[in-house]
Amino acid sequence: MRGLFATGVGLGFYNTTAYGVELQEVTIKIKDLPERFSGFTIALLSDTHASMIANKGLFDEAARLIMSKKPQMIALTGDYISGSTKFLSGAIGKFRQKYLDQLLDSLSVLKAPLGVYAVLGNHDFWSGPEAIEAISDSFTKSLGVIWLRNRNLRVEKDGEAINLLGVDDYWQSSCSIHRAYQGLDKDSVNILLSHNPDINDDVPPQMRIDLILSGHTHGGQIYLPFIGCPVVPSKFGQKYISGLVRDGERQTYITRGVGHLMAPIRINCPPEATIITLEKAA
Ligand SMILES: [Fe+2]
Repeated sequence: MRGLFATGVGLGFYNTTAYGVELQEVTIKIKDLPERFSGFTIALLSDTHASMIANKGLFDEAARLIMSKKPQMIALTGDYISGSTKFLSGAIGKFRQKYLDQLLDSLSVLKAPLGVYAVLGNHDFWSGPEAIEAISDSFTKSLGVIWLRNRNLRVEKDGEAINLLGVDDYWQSSCSIHRAYQGLDKDSVNILLSHNPDINDDVPPQMRIDLILSGHTHGGQIYLPFIGCPVVPSKFGQKYISGLVRDGERQTYITRGVGHLMAPIRINCPPEATIITLEKAA
């Protein structure tokens, strides 16, 4: 059994190293998108899971790939570190500033003319209030990150605008799509950042959300032929595992993320850095 586990870990290292980070470029068509936002690019980065088992090389590579495309906006969707206060205690250790510093060093190149926006993931919350404060402060100071904790703001470009919303992690009691949506209506394009794509379950019909940008499910992290992903932390099973998913007029893009959880294993599921280009739907 130990031999099997060791082989699995070895294959995981190999798999991750062999693939590196994959740059995923996707075009998403949105109804009523203002003309000035046609061709607008958003970089999406998620689930770095900085910890003692993280690979800083993957963070560097993801940041480099993103900046090679000069995105106009950058969205960060949580799980920056691996928390251990709820689960995994002892397996990956408690929050350590040095792992956050390693991540910040890698991400320090991230810049975009219309801003860098972020929400928090379940592992950020599970790491405790001290970790949340450290992440929030350092990301703002070092990267100029604007946090979207159950709120929205207008993003303007040459006199036209879309709205950007963000919620706290779906599994936290502080998550509120209603607070995030306050003041918005169905007359404008609304893009939501939510770590967990299960937020779809909280969107009522009277709310207009055109696009949700998420991570969390890691593409399953381990994808087995004929079986799929053995473990997916979603009430919808494999539905929101990765890529673009449509629910009526609403679309959700789920990135496989950069890091890994529990062990540095990714099988048939390479780490991802994403560039999304918005186009107006016909
Ligand atoms: Fe995650």
